[in-house]
Amino acid sequence: MESVIVAIDGPSGTGKSSTSKAVAAKLGLSYLDTGAQYRAITWWMITNGVDVDDADAVASAAGKPTIVSGTDPSHPTITVDGVDASGPIRTQDVTSKVSAVSAVPEVRERITELQRSIAEAAGAGQGIVVEGRDIGTTVLPGADLKIFLTASPEARAARRSGELRGADVHATREALIKRDAADSSRKTSPLAKADDAVEVDTTDLTLQQVIECVVTLVEEKRAAA
Ligand code: DC
Repeated sequence: MESVIVAIDGPSGTGKSSTSKAVAAKLGLSYLDTGAQYRAITWWMITNGVDVDDADAVASAAGKPTIVSGTDPSHPTITVDGVDASGPIRTQDVTSKVSAVSAVPEVRERITELQRSIAEAAGAGQGIVVEGRDIGTTVLPGADLKIFLTASPEARAARRSGELRGADVHATREALIKRDAADSSRKTSPLAKADDAVEVDTTDLTLQQVIECVVTLVEEKRAAA
């Protein structure tokens, strides 16, 4: 079967990660969580004493850490300088600083290069599902299928606070809106829907329905190739 490259973008709380992982597992594709890479470089900056609000300091440190992503959808991994970073990258501290770090062009150049080489390697096999914010617009503009997931801010906040085991929905909603605004308004490759992306509004859909919808879109694309 033809290899397929799928780009899934959208703001947080739209079910991007759960959907991307499940679709990749179901179709035998690799999986790349690009948000985890931005979180990993942010974690490295924090642990190495780099002031994340100092864009010049972040830029000059951007090339230092070695970030390695494992692309098995049933067991995605991420290491920084050989250390497992999957736990530390999900802390509140990293979440609150990742938008500032990922807005720095040198960081984006570095991570984009990494993402392209992973996608290229996977393209030699069955293919890959790559999820993020700028995959369809900037990282892989030639992807075979581009999907943009959306959901109302209320639905996104409710899902995120569920994930954070009962965190306050109001505070989660505010933090999420702030992070999306920063990600959408940055100068270098902001969160955006590609012109040729299929938009899927997940507000009133269950995760299973979103997965089925995306699997169908990928299968249609493969059948038409
Ligand atoms: O998907 P996530 O919440 O783990 O992503 C964390 C942050 O990384 C997000 O706030 C913006 C940034 N990011 C990005 O700038 N570009 C991407 N392709 C993926 C994530």
